[in-house]
Amino acid sequence: MKTLMASPWLPLLFLLFSTSLMAAPSHHHSRVPNFLQCLSLHFPNSTNSIAKLIYTPHNSNYTSVLKASLRNQRFALPHTPKPKVIVTPLEVSQIQAAVYCSKESGLPIRVRSGGHDYEGLSYVSYESQFVMVDLINFRSVDVNVEKGTAWVQSGATLGELYYGISQKTNTYGFTAGVCPTVGIGGHFSGGGYGMMSRKYGLSVDNIIDARLVDVNGKILDRKAMGEDLFWAIRGGGGASFGVILEWQIKLLPVPETVTVFTVNRTLEQNGAKLIHRWQYIADKLDENILLRLFITTANSSSGFGKLTTQGSFVALYLGRAEKLVELMKESFPELGLERQDCFEMSWIESILYFAGFDGYPREILLNRTYDLMYFKGKSDYVLTPISEEGLEIVYKMLNEIDGTQALFSPFGGELAEISDSATPYAHRSGVIYNIHWGTGWKQEGREEYVKHMKWIRRLYKAMEPYVSKNPRQAYLNYRDLDLGVNNKGNTSYEQASTWALHYYKDNFKRLVEVKRKVDPRNFFRNEQSIPPAAV
Ligand SMILES: Cc1cc2nc3c(=O)[nH]c(=O)nc-3n(C[C@H](O)[C@H](O)[C@H](O)COP(=O)(O)OP(=O)(O)OC[C@H]3O[C@@H](n4cnc5c(N)ncnc54)[C@H](O)[C@@H]3O)c2cc1C
Ligand SMILES: *[C@@H]1O[C@H](CO)[C@@H](O)[C@H](O)[C@H]1NC(C)=O
Ligand SMILES: *[C@@H]1O[C@H](CO)[C@@H](O)[C@H](O)[C@H]1NC(C)=O
Ligand SMILES: *[C@@H]1O[C@H](CO)[C@@H](O)[C@H](O)[C@H]1NC(C)=O
Ligand SMILES: *[C@@H]1O[C@H](CO)[C@@H](O)[C@H](O)[C@H]1NC(C)=O
Ligand SMILES: *[C@@H]1O[C@H](CO)[C@@H](O)[C@H](O)[C@H]1NC(C)=O
Ligand SMILES: *[C@@H]1O[C@H](CO)[C@@H](O)[C@H](O)[C@H]1NC(C)=O
Repeated sequence: MKTLMASPWLPLLFLLFSTSLMAAPSHHHSRVPNFLQCLSLHFPNSTNSIAKLIYTPHNSNYTSVLKASLRNQRFALPHTPKPKVIVTPLEVSQIQAAVYCSKESGLPIRVRSGGHDYEGLSYVSYESQFVMVDLINFRSVDVNVEKGTAWVQSGATLGELYYGISQKTNTYGFTAGVCPTVGIGGHFSGGGYGMMSRKYGLSVDNIIDARLVDVNGKILDRKAMGEDLFWAIRGGGGASFGVILEWQIKLLPVPETVTVFTVNRTLEQNGAKLIHRWQYIADKLDENILLRLFITTANSSSGFGKLTTQGSFVALYLGRAEKLVELMKESFPELGLERQDCFEMSWIESILYFAGFDGYPREILLNRTYDLMYFKGKSDYVLTPISEEGLEIVYKMLNEIDGTQALFSPFGGELAEISDSATPYAHRSGVIYNIHWGTGWKQEGREEYVKHMKWIRRLYKAMEPYVSKNPRQAYLNYRDLDLGVNNKGNTSYEQASTWALHYYKDNFKRLVEVKRKVDPRNFFRNEQSIPPAAV
């Protein structure tokens, strides 16, 4: 921690926060003024007025700053615990100061990049009071085409990364998720699956360096942090280990022309057979093809008001349309893919296509706003194809309420080449595909909330016989607190195993060892963080 000079804004801060000082009935409440006072002493002398980078609930802009990257309305409810202080640093030294002062004042810290955490853990804490460091201003993308690498800051979105690459080159891309508003910080530290994952693996498989602020306020790059910690932050979740500032990635070659298609088939159009069959071919296709499958409710043609199920077969092929049609005829003739179903385009246009912005100018990727929605998701991995009876349960249950979806994401290709222990992301060997179960709604109120939460928990229970077991594997980036949470305070290895084995399998042990080494007092913690417990 650099020693920093007293700030000239100290008196101003006391004025600003005097209301919180006066309303201090217990020792807990003194943490907030202590934190603010510490910040005013340790924020470096910069040209940026610190008052503009710190928000308490008294500030009229607090709510808009909090909501700017709050993806899930489930965590915007009045009773959701909110940060007592939001810090939006512009400089690394300000992040160091926030970590230092959080520790000094005993006010726990949360770090937010894109705010897409499924359980809101980047901006919600169920521990009394807390501070949130929001990396909204840390979003530069620095692409070096000659070296074939790029540095991207954690607060950037996937859209900003893709856009940044496309402004410099049309022969390189990167492997990461489909939704452009997802943040780099959470996505990269939890895995990162996208339309090129069968060709190039996950985001974590293509990271070559990173810089973070550790529990002591030190800035560490890969060399300084060592291979254990560098391993841990590529899939173990960043929140347990520090504040990750930026990542260096390997740019990945893409052809100038790629091909995409979407083929929809309802159950009445042989959909059930196709969905069942997909499980046998999707992980074995040429690795230049990724054929994803969305299963949703659709209106039946057999009568007004009747529902059916639709499979949407959505593909990216790193090559030309003629060849794709040929490959699909060989591997999956049942789908009946035709040349006219296929569209040739550049890689960046395919990013727009999969994001639902087909034909839009690529600048739309820089848009960080999204539709407000309540949402709950869960995940599974499938090692043996699900029987037709098992799939019938999915079709039936998807039609029970509105807003439901199952997304099947194929593995194989490069994903099958990487060992389970190469990164903390342990779901590789034997995995045919990942399932994302989801339900979203817009209507306010408890009734709607309970309906959707009950539905997805019932679906999860019903599908148990058909998916991976011992442990039932789950994807960290589709975080699910139903799997279990850390007890307050001391968490033993056994206790944390209840949820952690779903995400990490055997890699949990090594994550705990790394945690013990780099953060033995468990400063960086949340409801599902790696405990520094004895194994
Ligand atoms: C609409 C939507 C679409 C998605 N699509 C995909 C997809 O196609 N593929 C896929 O793999 N996943 C996908 N995801 C899941 C997504 O990858 C995760 O939710 C991811 O963790 C989000 O990252 P974030 O930075 O936006 O989240 P945040 O909520 O900001 O952070 C998530 C977690 O990481 C921690 N964290 C964030 N930044 C840092 C940092 N700099 N240092 C340390 N810890 C940090 C947070 O504290 C929190 O615990 C999607 C999610 C949503 C909501
Ligand atoms: C802060 O920086 C400015 C400009 O660099 C300088 O003039 C000023 O003296 C500094 N103040 C303190 C308290 O260090
Ligand atoms: C709130 O934000 C607006 C616009 O950015 C700014 O002009 C104003 O000074 C801010 N108000 C406070 C209290 O920070
Ligand atoms: C396929 O179905 C989806 C979801 O209903 C729809 O948005 C899309 O336009 C359809 N695509 C084609 C090519 O029919
Ligand atoms: C079915 O049709 C109705 C009426 O046209 C429409 O409101 C509804 O959104 C459709 N449902 C689906 C799943 O497409
Ligand atoms: C950004 O996205 C939001 C939500 O989809 C939309 O309402 C808005 O018009 C978009 N803004 C721009 C500049 O495209
Ligand atoms: C946690 O509990 C274990 C076993 O009860 C004990 O040995 C350990 O010291 C405790 N750790 C902390 C930090 O309290």
